[in-house]
Amino acid sequence: MEIIHSDKVITVMRRGLNLIDKRLTDHGVKVMLVVQDMLEADGCHDASVRKDMSLLALLHDIGAYRTEEIDNLVKFELGNVWEHSIYGYLFLREFTPLGEWAKTILYHHADYSAMEHEPRLLRHYSQMLHTADRAVVWHDEVKRSEDELERHFSNGRGRIFSPESIDLWQKCRKSGTFSRLDDPGCLDAALSCGLLDDSEAKAYLTMVIHTIEFRSRVTVTHTMGVMEIGVRLARHMGLSKETCQQIYYGAMLHDLGKIGTPVSILERPGRLTPEEMAIMRQHVVLSGQIIDGCVDQAVARIALRHHEKLNGSGYPLGLSHKDLTLPERLLTVADIISALCMSRSYKEAYSKERCLAILWDMCRRGELDEAIVSAAETFFDEIMTQADEACEPTRQAYERISAEYQAILKEHI
Ligand SMILES: [Fe+2]
Ligand SMILES: [Fe+2]
Ligand SMILES: [Fe+2]
Repeated sequence: MEIIHSDKVITVMRRGLNLIDKRLTDHGVKVMLVVQDMLEADGCHDASVRKDMSLLALLHDIGAYRTEEIDNLVKFELGNVWEHSIYGYLFLREFTPLGEWAKTILYHHADYSAMEHEPRLLRHYSQMLHTADRAVVWHDEVKRSEDELERHFSNGRGRIFSPESIDLWQKCRKSGTFSRLDDPGCLDAALSCGLLDDSEAKAYLTMVIHTIEFRSRVTVTHTMGVMEIGVRLARHMGLSKETCQQIYYGAMLHDLGKIGTPVSILERPGRLTPEEMAIMRQHVVLSGQIIDGCVDQAVARIALRHHEKLNGSGYPLGLSHKDLTLPERLLTVADIISALCMSRSYKEAYSKERCLAILWDMCRRGELDEAIVSAAETFFDEIMTQADEACEPTRQAYERISAEYQAILKEHI
């Protein structure tokens, strides 16, 4: 069963990140095009280098989506470039198959002269990103002539920019890279060059879920919890392997739209006003827009129906029992259990007794499926232990990121 076609992962990634800042996403695509041209000019035909460098170029500013520097970043004047470079490096190292390759992101604004002690390949590819990034910013923001860019690069040769990357840029310039940046067809071609195989597609889809942390880390651990609770419950209820897999991905995608919800609403303690609640509820619609046409239909329905209730009182469609399948009903229960019983930054976790009392109350009101709540009650302790364990690697990754972020920042500022 194909959950998501590998070509569609990048579409999902772009649509999600566009909800934070479209300028930054478009900038990434352009840098990707220039880097692909530079690799071509470099005579690099190693498919795995081309793939990793394309992804690094596309995501090179990913650390900026969580900071307030977005407005400064897209301008040519550079203020503090370290914060997003460090965060981007750590994020991609932890949550993608790029591993230590992600270090090129750490240095994508670093002067060539400051990198003399770094390994040769790291220097080479960081400089490639640095040069491509400046060329795109020059093209989009500075809007002065190519000749002036040439002089800018020449002035910085051997000091700010490596001689090799300037030479590569010159070859690209001659072959028309600058004008290709204005051609939507060329940009689409850069994106759809069959980058990912199946297992990488799954890994990058998981990375997309981790980008929700730019808004709210607890939403990511909540999502991990729903995935684990959903699959465990499904297995206990005897659902097929295929259905369990659909539930796993449905759970993974269920709150993706929260990437477009303001943090002040996402992590607000206490009751939301009716206006805030309306904005909060939009997350399901946004999830739908992000995954539209990209994932398996059954998976999409599981993801997008997690706030529907059997008696028609849910949202966004107000569907009722005759419309909702068992896996869809099950995810609703898994979502509530994770929301109540796994602690969030703004509220303490509920006890098992309190959580079950709420679930049974909801059954009495005709909102939830009794058979599912009954299974949840029977296997509650085991399921919650597993859910907690499933979140642990993510919590540890956040701890590593926070600790290393501060340490690296100290070295550079
Ligand atoms: Fe940057
Ligand atoms: Fe939700
Ligand atoms: Fe949720």
